[in-house]
Amino acid sequence: MPISWPKLYHLIQLQMKVGLIGYGNIAKKHQAAIAKIEGCTLDAIYDVVPVAAESTPTFTELKEFLDQDLDIISVCSPNGLHAEHSIQALNSGHHVICEKPFALSSEACAEMIATAEKNEKKIFCTMQNRYSPVSQWLKKIVDEEALGQLNMVNVACYWNRNKNYYKQSDWRGKAEADGGTLFTQFSHYVDSLYWLFGDMKILNAQFQNFDHGDMIEFEDTGIFSFLFHQGGMGSFAYTTSCFEKNFESTMTLIGSKGTIKVAGQYMDSIEYCNVEGLAPTTLLANDNLANIAAVYRNVISNIESNSTVMTTPLDGKAVVKLIEQVYSFR
Ligand SMILES: NC(=O)c1ccc[n+]([C@@H]2O[C@H](COP(=O)([O-])OP(=O)(O)OC[C@H]3O[C@@H](n4cnc5c(N)ncnc54)[C@H](O)[C@@H]3O)[C@@H](O)[C@H]2O)c1
Repeated sequence: MPISWPKLYHLIQLQMKVGLIGYGNIAKKHQAAIAKIEGCTLDAIYDVVPVAAESTPTFTELKEFLDQDLDIISVCSPNGLHAEHSIQALNSGHHVICEKPFALSSEACAEMIATAEKNEKKIFCTMQNRYSPVSQWLKKIVDEEALGQLNMVNVACYWNRNKNYYKQSDWRGKAEADGGTLFTQFSHYVDSLYWLFGDMKILNAQFQNFDHGDMIEFEDTGIFSFLFHQGGMGSFAYTTSCFEKNFESTMTLIGSKGTIKVAGQYMDSIEYCNVEGLAPTTLLANDNLANIAAVYRNVISNIESNSTVMTTPLDGKAVVKLIEQVYSFR
């Protein structure tokens, strides 16, 4: 019996061997996501602290780790090391998936992109929230211009990050290693704005450290306003000082033909939708692990067959540049 092309493709599909740099909180989610993907294996882990990982070789020497036979290296180390680790991984001949934020300066992002080009390797950014059902739903509505003229978009992220959170990892809260609340806590939502509506000009920003004292070397609360290059204005208010626990993350869109508010702890539910001609909809629940697995599937499919990349390195750089613009008001 002749074998079909998809079956043949499946049979000859290359195995993608992944290595992780940094084996903390998010790396464990990468590990679980990789386990969900057929043909993708976690083959090496590097961390400065000796770590135990069932059935995966672990390394505390970077050179030894980089010498392993790997296709993709995922950089899950602290923010301030993303550029350095990505560049080392690219220079040793690997494709790279870099956690958010892509880096802590747009210059560093440019260097990462140039290093990928020089080595003819690819670099990708982890912005898994783009795969959430609410994000996908919003993207379709915005791309189809169902809201008419977009007049205003307001984002509000009200979270809690307490002493325990900052005690867990020594890089958190440090200016050089963490960079700031917009980089670590809220870059997904800056990315949502950029992905949905394109670039913007930051008009002004204000920051306060209300109740984190010397636990953090930057603000716990901020607010900035902006104009979209495509037209329309907006604001972004954020805090990690909510009482006891995370409260919510919301985005409100005001257009000439519709009003939408998405909310929930991670902007993952529709709170209000009144859009001309748009039927009510029910979305699937958000699944962060499935979203990270989708990042890997997208990356693998791009490496194997050059399919469209969901979050390009230029997107990663643009988000860093926007945060830089906001922080230029510090
Ligand atoms: N995509 C997301 O939703 C998401 C969520 C959480 C964190 N992150 C990002 O992931 C990164 C890690 O965050 P985390 O919460 O897992 O932090 P973490 O502190 O739990 O883990 C960081 C790990 O990196 C290791 N490390 C530190 N210095 C290193 C070095 N020089 N070389 C190798 N390893 C080193 C630490 O020992 C630790 O195991 C950060 O950039 C963070 O912004 C992304």
